[in-house]
Order: sequence, then C-alpha cells, then structure tokens
Amino acid sequence: MPATVCLKVSKDLGEKVISLAHKLELVDKTLFIERQADQLWIPLARSPSAVELSQLRAVASSLVLDDKIFIVKRPVRETLFEVLKRELPSDLCLSIPRSLDIVGDVAVIEMPPELSLYHGVIGQAVLRVHKNIKCVYAKASAISGIYRVRDLVFVAGKNRAQTVYNEYGCKYHVDLAKAYFSPRLSQEHHRVASLVTNGEVVVDLFAGVGPFVVPIGKLCSNARVYGVDINPDAVDLLKLNVQVNKVTRNVFPLLGDARELANGLLRGVADRVIMNLPETAIDFIDVACQTLKPVGGLVHFYGFVRRPDTIENLKIRFTRIVEQQGRGVVEFVGVKSVRETAPYEQQVVLDVKIC
Ligand SMILES: C[S@@+](CC[C@H](N)C(=O)[O-])C[C@H]1O[C@@H](n2cnc3c(N)ncnc32)[C@H](O)[C@@H]1O
Repeated sequence: MPATVCLKVSKDLGEKVISLAHKLELVDKTLFIERQADQLWIPLARSPSAVELSQLRAVASSLVLDDKIFIVKRPVRETLFEVLKRELPSDLCLSIPRSLDIVGDVAVIEMPPELSLYHGVIGQAVLRVHKNIKCVYAKASAISGIYRVRDLVFVAGKNRAQTVYNEYGCKYHVDLAKAYFSPRLSQEHHRVASLVTNGEVVVDLFAGVGPFVVPIGKLCSNARVYGVDINPDAVDLLKLNVQVNKVTRNVFPLLGDARELANGLLRGVADRVIMNLPETAIDFIDVACQTLKPVGGLVHFYGFVRRPDTIENLKIRFTRIVEQQGRGVVEFVGVKSVRETAPYEQQVVLDVKIC
C-alpha cells in the first residue's frame, strides 16, 4: 500500500480542518483518519492547491502536508435505491421499488407499470446489490385463487422459483410459483409452535409447505400434528419438509379439502386448530369446530380486517358462527394485529378457547 498525501494537524483543531477539507472535496473517504497522541493525519484524495492550503492554514496555522500509509475502509455497500437512482431516468425515481420480498435466494419485486421497460436494469441491480440472491421475479398479480399463489414474471438471474428458506432452525423447500409461502409470518409460526404442549393433537387446516406444523413437530415430539392442504404442490413440498426436518414420526401431511377431512378422518380429534387462510377463514369456522374434540380446545384464526371494519366486529362474527355450531367461545386468549397488508387493511390473529 503506497503512502498517501495527508494533512497533519493537532487534535484540538482537527474537527475544523476535517470539516473544511470535506468542503473542498479533498478528503479520501476510502481511508480512515489516523489519530495518535495529540495529532491527526487526514488522508487526501489529491494535493491541495496553494489557495486551498492557505485557507486550511487560516484555520490551523500549525498544519503541515505529510505522507503516510492509512488503513483502508471496507467499501460502503450502496442500497438498491441508490444504484437505481443513478441508472434509471430521473423522472422515474419516485417509482423505484423500496422493498423486496426475499425468500432463500429468490427475490420478488413489485414493479409499477412505468418501469416495464427497465425490468432488466432493475433485476441486474438487485443481483449486484444482494450477492446472496440468484433469481429475481416481478409480481404479476395479487395473491389469488384457492391455492393462494401469485403470477410471477422472470426478471434476472436463474429462472427458478424453488429455493430453500431457513426459519427458527427449520428448513423449508418452497416454490413461490406453485405454493404459498411468506417469510413475513415467521414470528407467528414460531409463537404458535411454542404454545403447543406434549400430548396435544394439532390440526393445521391450511398447512401450505408446513411453517406451522414442522416447528410444532420439532419442538413437541409427543404432539400429533396433521397438516392439510388442497394444493398438491404444497403437499409435495410439505412431505419433503417433514422429511428434511426429521419430523416424520409425529407430523402427517394430508392432501385434500379441509372441509371434507373435517367430516371424516379429522372429525373431533384436535386440541388445537390452526387456520391461516385469512381471506376466507371465516367460512371455515364450522370446519374448525368439527375438528375440535367434543371437550373443545384452542383455535388460532387469521383474518383480514379492512377499515371501517374492526377487530371487535370480527370477534362478534366469530362468536356468532361458533354458537351456530352448538359450541361456545370461552375466551379470546389473545387478539392482535400481525401485520399491515394494505392501506387500511391488517392481518389479525384471534387465539380463541372454544368449548
Ligand atoms: C395463506 S396459505 C397459508 C399456508 C401456511 N399455513 C403458511 O402460513 O404459509 C393458505 C393455504 O390454504 C390452502 N387451502 C385453501 N383452501 C383450502 C381448503 N379448502 N382445504 C385445504 N387447504 C386449502 C391453500 O392451498 C394454501 O396453501
């Protein structure tokens, strides 16, 4: 590393000199300022002109030019926004996506229509800024349909939406094009799994690739856990995740309609029922009641609340439907907002004790 031209100045005048040297755009920001005893050495990107030197000496008359070897700073990584601000036309700056959904090594990005000509530029920027990302997709629809998946458009990197995602010590094989998965609920997956006690029978009516049932199986080896899903791709991934996480002894994937299974194999078996199908879970409260043991149990119900609707109204609707099933709500053990899902819309969870 060669020596760098620098300003040597006493510490008591250091801040003033540093500030002026920055204003003159003299400072080499890639190097650390050196401090020793009562002296400072400020690395310079270029030699100061005679005028600049006299300006600096007006602030610190004892200042001298020197040469020194400095420690190099690790380069500061630019954000995606900073890179794209430079690379896109300035009138599109306001449209630059501020956030990415990252699952394993796959990134999914919201692309407003005015950026349609720039998918390639944006995708390459994502790959450069996030070195761990290998595949970039744009959202091409909302989450929709019975399987709760969205259309994706390939943007950059490798064209594969399958990846592996780690959450609280569990490993999930996911395929964002074929089965629902969201890392935004990771705390909820962990919270619910931590509540399960040994000996319980748990039914997840809408299990997806297994982010509730797999950790329950891991944390509670004596619990018996059924994970139901109607999407064959989700259940294939669930079966794989059950194997990979070594919970085949107590977690049982079931392909089918939750309503049909609650009428047959799963009727009256559960101490605890998980219902994460927020768009339409309200239509399955009867199914949860059928699945619970005759003595009752706990239901974790996820729903959307869109203003002016309120959580209190949701609780009233929930209670009414439970009572129509000949059951009763003993207590809302926990009620909380899990995340904002849209302007004026939140996803909420009701933990409900039912008899
Ligand atoms: C919002 S996802 C939740 C998946 C998982 N619990 C999670 O947190 O990632 C809802 C899941 O319910 C499944 N599903 C929708 N209707 C169903 C039904 N009638 N019976 C069983 N599964 C259903 C979908 O295929 C989807 O995988």
